Amino acid sequence: MIEASISKKTGRLTYGMVGGGPGSFIGSVHRAAIRMGGDARLVCGCFSQNYEKSLETGRMLNLSDDRIYKNYEEMAKGEGARPDRPDFMVVTLPNVGHFDACRAFLEQGFSVMCEKPFTCSLEEALELERLAKEKGCLLGVSYVYTGHVMVKEARELIRDGVIGDIRVVIAEYPQEWLMDLVESESKQASWRTDPARSGISNCVGDIGSHIENLVAYMTGLKITQLCANLDVIGEGRSLDTNAEILLRFSNGASGCYWCSQVAAGYDNALKVRIFGTKGAIEFEQERSNYLTLTRKGEPPRLLSRGNGYIHESVKSFSRLPSGHPEGYHEALANLYDQFLLAVSAQKTGESVQDGQYDYPGVEMGISGVRFIEKCVESSSKGAVWVNL
Ligand SMILES: NC(=O)c1ccc[n+]([C@@H]2O[C@H](COP(=O)([O-])OP(=O)(O)OC[C@H]3O[C@@H](n4cnc5c(N)ncnc54)[C@H](O)[C@@H]3O)[C@@H](O)[C@H]2O)c1
Repeated sequence: MIEASISKKTGRLTYGMVGGGPGSFIGSVHRAAIRMGGDARLVCGCFSQNYEKSLETGRMLNLSDDRIYKNYEEMAKGEGARPDRPDFMVVTLPNVGHFDACRAFLEQGFSVMCEKPFTCSLEEALELERLAKEKGCLLGVSYVYTGHVMVKEARELIRDGVIGDIRVVIAEYPQEWLMDLVESESKQASWRTDPARSGISNCVGDIGSHIENLVAYMTGLKITQLCANLDVIGEGRSLDTNAEILLRFSNGASGCYWCSQVAAGYDNALKVRIFGTKGAIEFEQERSNYLTLTRKGEPPRLLSRGNGYIHESVKSFSRLPSGHPEGYHEALANLYDQFLLAVSAQKTGESVQDGQYDYPGVEMGISGVRFIEKCVESSSKGAVWVNL
């Protein structure tokens, strides 16, 4: 089983976390995912900008008070000076905090797993890439959906040429949670719709970036040009809550992405359809244990995770037999298993390259930030085609 094989390869690593305090969303998902498969133990953190809340979370997680910090700068320096330094840091702050926190940790020589979008500008993303190289550190960006077994299976099928050359990609990520002005009752809505904490885009930055990454991961295609229309829906808001994006890819294929936070009836309905010269593949994140494969002229076939026909290289990412659903936590756990293997290999003196292990690395982080910037640029010029 994957748990045993991962444990053998990684040994026991330690990590620290920023963000993930009381009432937050993704920090606790990271902690659960790391516990699920990999072999790393949380040893320090700064879970909130409010020290009392940070202490509350840290104590609940059995950390000693001297390793619960008032801010991430103190944490980077404090932990950097310890003989028992953690092996990596996890950044789960609202978007604008990503750059400063990653920089503080990289400067102290820590590898980092950072939430998406990686940074709020391309300049910042490139600076972190430079710093990581200089310090010999690993950088991961937690685009969680790449960890799904059936996403990996889709990638293998496309690599095998089962659907032929890709001609068209249609992908969408609709949600309904920002249809009303919920900013005062939801902290997640409050910072996402605030440019000072979210960056230059809300909807494209938050969920459009997932589409860009998932399609890139599954197909390997590079976007060469895009034309985006970003809508700001909701009185008093200044950032986008809906966007339509047309695309051209390096192989001549075209595409269309739609992301929305004002789409009634939808939760997290991320769906990717890829059409090639021989067939098509369809993946839906809310049905992540399945994949639809259609060969030209044949009826669609539903492939199910955990079955014998899944690629050998992909099977090992399954934790449960088919029919027992795996989901979001397992996807992030798969991502962490790979990151832990990379951190572990580097710890033993191996040189690890970005992309060598199967987790989204700095190149994907940079690509996501470039995509967001170009969507905003295109829309602000009146939805014109821009080059990437
Ligand atoms: N990969 C995914 O699927 C996914 C899903 C959700 C969120 N995210 C990303 O994760 C990040 C956090 O999102 P969220 O929904 O968990 O936000 P959240 O508001 O629920 O949590 C943010 C946490 O960071 C803490 N925090 C804020 N500033 C801090 C500081 N200076 N020092 C220490 N702690 C601080 C807050 O107190 C809170 O605990 C965002 O970048 C978001 O885009 C990614």
